[in-house]
Amino acid sequence: MGRFDERVAVVTGAARGIGLAIATRFAEEGASVAVLDLDESAAQQAASGLPGKAVGIGVDVADVAGAEAAVDRVVAELGGVHVLVNNAGITRDNLLFKMSETDWDLVMNVHLKGAFAMTKAAQKHFVEQRYGKIVNLSSVSALGNRGQANYSAAKMGVQGFTRTLGIELGPFGVNANAIAPGFIATDMTDATAQRVGMSVEDFRAAAANRNPVKRVGHPEDIAAIAAFLCSDEASYVTGQTLYVDGGATLV
Ligand code: NAI
Repeated sequence: MGRFDERVAVVTGAARGIGLAIATRFAEEGASVAVLDLDESAAQQAASGLPGKAVGIGVDVADVAGAEAAVDRVVAELGGVHVLVNNAGITRDNLLFKMSETDWDLVMNVHLKGAFAMTKAAQKHFVEQRYGKIVNLSSVSALGNRGQANYSAAKMGVQGFTRTLGIELGPFGVNANAIAPGFIATDMTDATAQRVGMSVEDFRAAAANRNPVKRVGHPEDIAAIAAFLCSDEASYVTGQTLYVDGGATLV
C-alpha cells in the first residue's frame, strides 16, 4: 500500500535534479507519474527509469497552450490527474544594473507564468473531482539574494500565488503549498559554481558551512517533503511555504 496508489502525479522539470527525485518518490509510493520537461527525449528517458506507469512529455511550461495540451495528454494517457508539482525552473543571475530585460522575462515566465499555466490547466480537473494537491517550488532566495533580483522576485511571487491558490481552491478539496529549498546539490547549483569560478566541491562545502546542519541538501530531501505535502496526511495544511534549508534562514 503506497500513499499514492491510484493517483496520477505531474511533475514539471522532472528530467533531472529535484524534479526527478520528486517523480521517483511518487512512483515508489504507487503513483503513475508524468515527467514534463523541455526536451521530450530527456523526459521520456527519465520516465522510463521510474518504477510503475510513467510517461515523458516535452513541454515549455511557460507556453500556456502547451501546458494545457500536456495536462490533457496526461489525463488521456494515465487516466486522470491528482497531484501537480510546479518544479521547472531556471536561473539567469546578474546584478540588477547588468540584468537584461530578456533575463528578467525568461525567469518570470518559467517560474510564474509556468506555474500559472500548469495550475490553471490542472485545477479544472481538481475542482471537478473535488480532489487535488499542488506543490510549488519557491526558494530561500525569495527572501532576497544578491545577483538574483529576477529569481528572488519570481520565487516570492510563487509564495503569493500559493497562498492565493490555498484560498481559492481549498473549498474544492484542493491543497496548495510551497517548498522553499536552501542549497540543493544539482546541475543548477553546479552551474552557479562554474559561473562564479569555484570548483563544485568548494562551492558545496561553503554552502554546507552556511547552515546549522552543516551539509548541503540533496534532491531526496525535497522529494520527501513534497510527498508529505501531497499526501492525505497533510490535508489540513494549505497555502504554506515550508523552508527546507538545513536552517540556513535561521542564521
Ligand atoms: P535543474 O536545473 O537541475 O533542473 C530543472 C529542470 O527544469 C531541467 O530539467 C530543465 O530542463 C527544466 N526546465 C527548465 N525550464 C523549463 C520549462 N520552461 N519548461 C519545462 N521544463 C523546464 O534545477 P533544480 O536544482 O533541480 O531545481 C528545481 C527547482 O527547484 C527549480 O524551480 C529551482 O528554482 C528550485 N530550487 C532549487 C534550488 C537548488 O539549490 N538547486 C534551491 C531552491 C529552489
